[in-house]
Parts: sequence; structure tokens; C-alpha cells
Amino acid sequence: MQYDEHKLVEYFADAPAGVGFSDLDLNNIPHHISCIMDGNGRWATSRGLARTEGHKAGIVSLREIITACVRLGVDVLSAYAFSTENWNRPQHEVNVLMHLFAKTFIDELPLLKRENVRVVFLGDISALPKKTRDVFERGLAECADHTGMTLALAVNYGARAEITRAVRQIALDAAAGKIDPGAIDDDMVASHLYTAGLPDPELVIRTSGELRLSNYLLWQVAYSEFYVTDTYWPDFDRWGLVDAILAYQGRDRRFGGLSKTEEA
Ligand code: FPP
Repeated sequence: MQYDEHKLVEYFADAPAGVGFSDLDLNNIPHHISCIMDGNGRWATSRGLARTEGHKAGIVSLREIITACVRLGVDVLSAYAFSTENWNRPQHEVNVLMHLFAKTFIDELPLLKRENVRVVFLGDISALPKKTRDVFERGLAECADHTGMTLALAVNYGARAEITRAVRQIALDAAAGKIDPGAIDDDMVASHLYTAGLPDPELVIRTSGELRLSNYLLWQVAYSEFYVTDTYWPDFDRWGLVDAILAYQGRDRRFGGLSKTEEA
């Protein structure tokens, strides 16, 4: 995606010591960056605050990463906000998160409009409390004509449920004679996922040091590069993002084949 060089330079001015912003190859920015925003609870607890304060602080980080990705010309930023397993958290925390999602979407609408950000949800948002769902639907309508970066928010999302849902839809179409079972291929499966039409993430960032996928985008990350940082999500900022992209740019992506040097 095109980026505005002036705004880019301005947004990334004053890099702290040790951050190699000038080393970034701006022609090799991932098209799709995905964030597993982890560590909000621990960030808060380590400061003697309620876990929900960590979620509030996490929103500030999300805002910064959205802006940074727009400046860098990223096509798609996806973020794991609430999993199908997160319903098992204490009811109070779930309630606060649902309220926060709605509030955030309303509060961030001016940013999404100003930056022309298209929003899609990954997951079953029909199961969310009515108030949150209504805000999401109204917000989606307000962003419907945006043509810039896509922000894909995974809310009530689980990768196994997503794949099961796709298989069920394809099986129903086959049973109804709408498709030939022999024609089922990777593209058909991908087109039935919540991410239909989006490129797979080249880079998946997980904050807070956990080395697991937590039922996130299992199909789509087949060839993604992973970057894990110990930083808790509320402390993750544009400079952390630069470090992640630099690490990505240093990787040798082989897609099951040979590296460029081995081929030569
Ligand atoms: C993980 O930290 C984070 C979450 C479950 C919520 C993240 C959500 C946001 C930052 C807001 C997203 C906004 C919209 C509009 C969808 P954790 O609670 O698992 O942290 P812990 O592992 O330290 O307990």
C-alpha cells in the first residue's frame, strides 16, 4: 500500500538509541502484520493495578500500532482481541472487555476515518452482548467506504471453530449439489474463513514472551514468520514494531523450498 513519506518520517522521528529505524527496508514491509496482544493482565498486576487497567492501557498501544502500520503502508493489521476461550475469564473482566471494545470502537472512529482504515471482524460477533454488537455494526457502516489499510479485529475468534465452520459450509454446499467435492482445494477452504480475501500474515507478533499460538489463525499462519517479545502489550509501541519488522526482514523465508543462497 502507498505510504506518505513525509508523514512516515515525521511519525518515526526521534528513534530511541538502539532502534534501527534507518535500517528498515521500506520496500519489504509485510503486507499483513498480525498481533497477539498478550500481557495486559500482567502489566497491570505488576503495577498493583486491576487487570482491567491493563486492557485500557492496551488500547493505547493498539492505537499506536494502527497508526504506525498506516504510516508504513501495511495493507492489513490484524489483532487478537478476544478468543472463544476468553469467555471463561471472571464475568467482571468479560463485562469490562465487552464495554471497552464498544467504547474503543466509538472513541477510535475519528482515527479510523482520518486514516481511511477499513475494519473487518474475524469471529462470531453475533454472540456478543447486544450493546457491543450494535456499536460494532454501526461502526462498520461508518467505515464501509474506507479504502486504506484493513484492520481485522479478532473478537470471539477461535481458529478451530473457524475451520470447522468453513468445513461445514463446504459440506453443506456439496450435499446440496452446489459444488463438486472433487473441486475442494486450499483456495476454496480459504474463501470460507473469516479472513476470506485477506492475504495471509507474513509476520505474527506475540507480546509477553509466550511461545504459543492460542488457537489463532491456524490455517493462515502456515508460512508466517513469528516474532515473540517479552514486552507486555501495553508497553509495545512503534519502536517495538520496528524491531519486529527488522527481525522479519532478516529472516530467510523458504516456503518449504531452498534459500536464495542454496539455490545459487
Ligand atoms: C491479552 O492480555 C489481551 C486481551 C484479552 C484483550 C486485548 C484487547 C484490547 C487491547 C482492545 C481491543 C479493542 C477492540 C476495539 C477490539 P491478557 O489479559 O491475556 O494478559 P495476561 O496474559 O497478562 O493475563
